[in-house]
Amino acid sequence: MPNRIALIGSGLIGCGWAVVFSRAGWDVALHDIKPGRAKQAVEDTKASLANLEACGFLESADACAQHLLPVGSLDEAIEGATFVQENVLETPEEKLAVFQELDRKVPGDIILGSSASTIPASKFTEHLDGRERCIIVHPCTPPYLVPLVEIVPAPWTAAATTQYCVDLMTDVNLVPILLHKEMYGFVLNRLQVALVNEAMHLVGQGVASPADVEKTLKNGLGLRWSFMGPFQTMDLAAPTGFKEYATKFGHSYRNMGKELGVAEEWSTDAIDQVDRFLRDEVPLDKLAERGQWRDRKLMKLASDTDN
Ligand SMILES: NC(=O)c1ccc[n+]([C@@H]2O[C@H](COP(=O)([O-])OP(=O)(O)OC[C@H]3O[C@@H](n4cnc5c(N)ncnc54)[C@H](O)[C@@H]3O)[C@@H](O)[C@H]2O)c1
Repeated sequence: MPNRIALIGSGLIGCGWAVVFSRAGWDVALHDIKPGRAKQAVEDTKASLANLEACGFLESADACAQHLLPVGSLDEAIEGATFVQENVLETPEEKLAVFQELDRKVPGDIILGSSASTIPASKFTEHLDGRERCIIVHPCTPPYLVPLVEIVPAPWTAAATTQYCVDLMTDVNLVPILLHKEMYGFVLNRLQVALVNEAMHLVGQGVASPADVEKTLKNGLGLRWSFMGPFQTMDLAAPTGFKEYATKFGHSYRNMGKELGVAEEWSTDAIDQVDRFLRDEVPLDKLAERGQWRDRKLMKLASDTDN
């Protein structure tokens, strides 16, 4: 039986998965509740595949595109599926409705993944008969170029389900990390939220312009963080390594930590300022084009990465 993934929900992330799995030679069935969306999703996926091929990241976009199959119903999507990945809206109610249907209809030995980016699986799988085969498989955007994927089992997820997903993600050229316990927002988004909330707070407080905060990441923190994490960054910022850094600077982190606006509401003024800055840079009708530009930048970076 050929490997086949059923994608339930074919928006931005569904399309991302379609690239990842078709690139790995899997058949990909795309389903979406919105009429016409699955077909459009195939076109969007083809555009990403073509961009990857043009930059030498793929041998044949056409060969990958042969694997893409838009379908009209969930039943058609799961027919013959060897793995199912849900990518609908980020609410426990939507996830629950889809997982109830999947658990009823998909054969018991097939694993059911969810792309949820903040909601743990225990919030919508507890009362399912097949709850041990349900798990969060949370990708980045776009998953075909930003390879980290968070595997987050619920307390009742079977160890075999978790292992299957870790192996599967490795097989399709992603980089899985495994969470040992559930936590709202998982790891990546918790880190991102801490930073982004403070960025909005700094703009809202009039400390720096959106353009300068953007530069701080682009020309500062982000340069280092594109190839090493915060721990290694600190290890290289004191002559005898991390422990010296922690002794010298740990108290500054604690003091600054107390002042951070990471739990503040984003102010309307900060939202307006950031929006004006972004629309001056890229008008709305050029946003999709900008997405392709981002992908090309990521490809340049990826070709330079040696880890
Ligand atoms: N956008 C991101 O950066 C990102 C990153 C990682 C994970 N995620 C997660 O992936 C999931 C999808 O996010 P997205 O950004 O692709 O959203 P999106 O709005 O682009 O796509 C969601 C799609 O699901 C469809 N849909 C809704 N209910 C459905 C149903 N019952 N059956 C079939 N299709 C249905 C919608 O019509 C829509 O096309 C969310 O849980 C989100 O948190 C998003």
